[in-house]
Amino acid sequence: MASDDRLYFRQLLSGRDFAVGDPIAAQMRNFAYLIGDRETGHAVLVDPAYAAGDLLDTLESDGMKLSGVLVTHHHPDHIGGSMMGFELKGLAELLERVSVPVHVNTHEAQWVSRVTGIPMSDLTTHVHGDKVAIGDIDIELLHTPGHTPGSQCFLLDGRLVAGDTLFLEGCGRTDFPGGDVDEMFRSLQQLAALRGDPTVFPGHWYSSDPSASLSEVKRSNYVYRVSNLEQWRSLMGG
Ligand SMILES: [Fe+2]
Repeated sequence: MASDDRLYFRQLLSGRDFAVGDPIAAQMRNFAYLIGDRETGHAVLVDPAYAAGDLLDTLESDGMKLSGVLVTHHHPDHIGGSMMGFELKGLAELLERVSVPVHVNTHEAQWVSRVTGIPMSDLTTHVHGDKVAIGDIDIELLHTPGHTPGSQCFLLDGRLVAGDTLFLEGCGRTDFPGGDVDEMFRSLQQLAALRGDPTVFPGHWYSSDPSASLSEVKRSNYVYRVSNLEQWRSLMGG
């Protein structure tokens, strides 16, 4: 079986493809991702927020079985929790239905635990370069701090699932707790140096296209118009 046939990869938009009728989900325009190996039938969910059960239903109706969750970062619009006075459902509700490992960066674990109420001991922590294998699909975890201390991106089979580190236009904010302007610059440069021109799949739909090649993002996204840290600081600070 060619790898294109074997890879199961779906990009789902909150308020349209899941959590339909939830005005916050529709307003936030979050992307969740389903990634798996069609041959073994195993799959992971990236960033289950809002009606996470819908994502599991979709995955199961595609004939796949959930074997884990990948978390890009701890913000409630990605994993559920308290946000702007609302209690968003997400990861905690999902784990009541199915017990699977939750893969987080080691620098994000305490934040994820605090936001979701999931004990630290129930989280599987990772460092930069770790791999999570789903059947025959290897997913590489890239530590990309800046938006949050333990933000991570996922690299697999010519695709970069970028969370709130890199959007097609702009990048994640650095003024929330744990954000860091300098770290964001280094993380964006790290992503820019990836080989093979992967397709960027962001954590939100903030642009006309839902995905684009990294080379196109590097051409069009203003975050790649600065060439050094000093310029970056003045762009982000001023
Ligand atoms: Fe975020």
